[in-house]
Amino acid sequence: MKISGSSALVTGGGSGLGEATARLLAAEGAIVHVFDRDAAGAERVAAEIGGVAIAGDVTSETDASAALDTAAAAGNGLRILVNCAGIGTAARLLGRDGPMPLDAFERVIRVNLVGTFNMMRLAAARIAETAELEGLGRGVIVNTASVAAFEGQIGQIAYSASKGGIVSMALPAARELARFGIRVNTIAPGLFRTPLLAGLPQEAQDSLAAAIPGPARLGTPEEFADTVRYLVANPYVNGEVIRLDGALRMQPR
Ligand SMILES: NC(=O)c1ccc[n+]([C@@H]2O[C@H](COP(=O)([O-])OP(=O)(O)OC[C@H]3O[C@@H](n4cnc5c(N)ncnc54)[C@H](O)[C@@H]3O)[C@@H](O)[C@H]2O)c1
Repeated sequence: MKISGSSALVTGGGSGLGEATARLLAAEGAIVHVFDRDAAGAERVAAEIGGVAIAGDVTSETDASAALDTAAAAGNGLRILVNCAGIGTAARLLGRDGPMPLDAFERVIRVNLVGTFNMMRLAAARIAETAELEGLGRGVIVNTASVAAFEGQIGQIAYSASKGGIVSMALPAARELARFGIRVNTIAPGLFRTPLLAGLPQEAQDSLAAAIPGPARLGTPEEFADTVRYLVANPYVNGEVIRLDGALRMQPR
């Protein structure tokens, strides 16, 4: 898909991987809609990149529809959706205080998996209404999973389940949306230097980085954004899940 001049919406665009993605797409000439539940984060990023801030929750049909309608009215219609919004948890299936509360499990599934699905289904309906571009189709969706989809650690049961669901949606979504000229790809990041990890003490960051074969450091949000650019721009990549992890394989704990 052509990035320059295209309307794009980035969920979780107010921080971390989504912020870097919003910045890169804007630098490449896209009209970027920064959608985040953190209104201040969305405003800050949108103001810096000349984009449009939209506060909302990915799990809400009303919020998502309103945001996507705005993005669909820009340029030649919505062409790019990048789902970066997500939350983590640390809770065991059976912890010291007993079984993991069901609502804690459901909350992670709701934001990460149902939220991604909600954005995909509502965005697909809008992208499908755009004119097909010669050799490029109508649009592209990029979702964010995690290497925890494959090697979930102890305490990551809900997070792993949510990200595994995102990985599993990649192929059926790509197969189904192909007839509309919409591609669907997924990135499974390893460990990235976002506000979450950057807040850890240097020692903890160093020990995480030491587990990464090469380069032995945390990934940068810009490296994530660069992969989004590739998945958006190359018209032949579809239904793919790309690990972006410096050959990291997470250990049980
Ligand atoms: N940072 C990493 O090392 C890493 C590794 C693997 C996967 N990921 C995934 O990448 C994505 C981005 O992570 P990050 O590190 O940039 O995190 P982050 O916390 O910096 O950014 C996530 C953003 O999503 C927003 N958000 C959360 N729930 C939302 C909701 N319901 N509706 C709308 N916005 C919501 C938050 O407000 C925040 O701005 C997440 O899905 C995360 O699981 C991150």
